[in-house]
Amino acid sequence: MIIKVLGSAAGGGFPQWNCNCRNCVSVRAGAEGFRARTQSSLAVSRDGVNWALLNASPDLREQIANTPSLHADPRVGLRHSPIKAAVLTNGDVDHIIGLINLREAQPFSVYASDRVLATVNANSVFQVLAPALVPRIEMKLDTPFNLEGGGVDLGLTVEAFAVPGKVALYLEDASAGGNYGSREGDTIGLKVTDPSEKKSFFYIPGCAEIDDELAERLEGASTVFFDGTLFTDNEMIEQGLLNKTGARMGHISMSGPAGSIAAFKKLGVGRLVYVHINNSNPALDDNSDARKAIDAAGWEVGYDGMEVRL
Ligand code: MLT
Ligand code: MN
Ligand code: ZN
Repeated sequence: MIIKVLGSAAGGGFPQWNCNCRNCVSVRAGAEGFRARTQSSLAVSRDGVNWALLNASPDLREQIANTPSLHADPRVGLRHSPIKAAVLTNGDVDHIIGLINLREAQPFSVYASDRVLATVNANSVFQVLAPALVPRIEMKLDTPFNLEGGGVDLGLTVEAFAVPGKVALYLEDASAGGNYGSREGDTIGLKVTDPSEKKSFFYIPGCAEIDDELAERLEGASTVFFDGTLFTDNEMIEQGLLNKTGARMGHISMSGPAGSIAAFKKLGVGRLVYVHINNSNPALDDNSDARKAIDAAGWEVGYDGMEVRL
């Protein structure tokens, strides 16, 4: 199985178009230790020929251009795409808008939870993906299924499961109190398995907390791509960027007693990779103390073009 990190940044990308935080200024200036990143997405393939996207970011057009495996193959025909499926983990802008780039009458399948499908179905612009060519398939939670699309069996199984999180920002219901009207299925994780090789990995780009159920599920996993939005819960407030904590945004932090570094320490995971990294995160500076702490804890910081083979 081949996994490619198409985009390792959180919503907004790195640099973010309107941001002059230290990181964004540095990466724009080409400073040593900084690299630009597009928005959150992975691609996975069993055979290197047919691929599934895990999330479809607003930067998908650029991501495809940067990834030869995803190019139209002239040997196959006048119109072709290796992308046979897109699996969505939530309804966030950074995870669904790339679907629009996949128009032009190309068959593939869209997989999402009932909650996320309801959002896609409610937005008529997504009708540019003709239903006859692009079926929208509901993923039942905790029910592995065979990944198919564009007339192809990808030879992979996917299991979607709910993780602690929050409904997409633009769907928040302030009057609902508590968790802004969030429900199960608004934020999910994915377990992708190649049954022929008996290899699996987890992809969880948005997660508010590692509770007992999630910890149990991830224990002993070979590879986990995980929410690396913030290093500390209040970093956006401290930097004067946005008056919100990570907890308010539905994102666990890397550091701290309840952070992901601490939570994964006991889980015995083989390879841990941060993705969905916000431009405020000091770990985006290769020379920062935050990066040193991450390295020391055995985590990798995902980057665009990173490839993992299982
Ligand atoms: C998130 O990950 O919290 C969202 O992508 C935020 C947003 O929509 O800007
Ligand atoms: Mn996001
Ligand atoms: Zn910034």
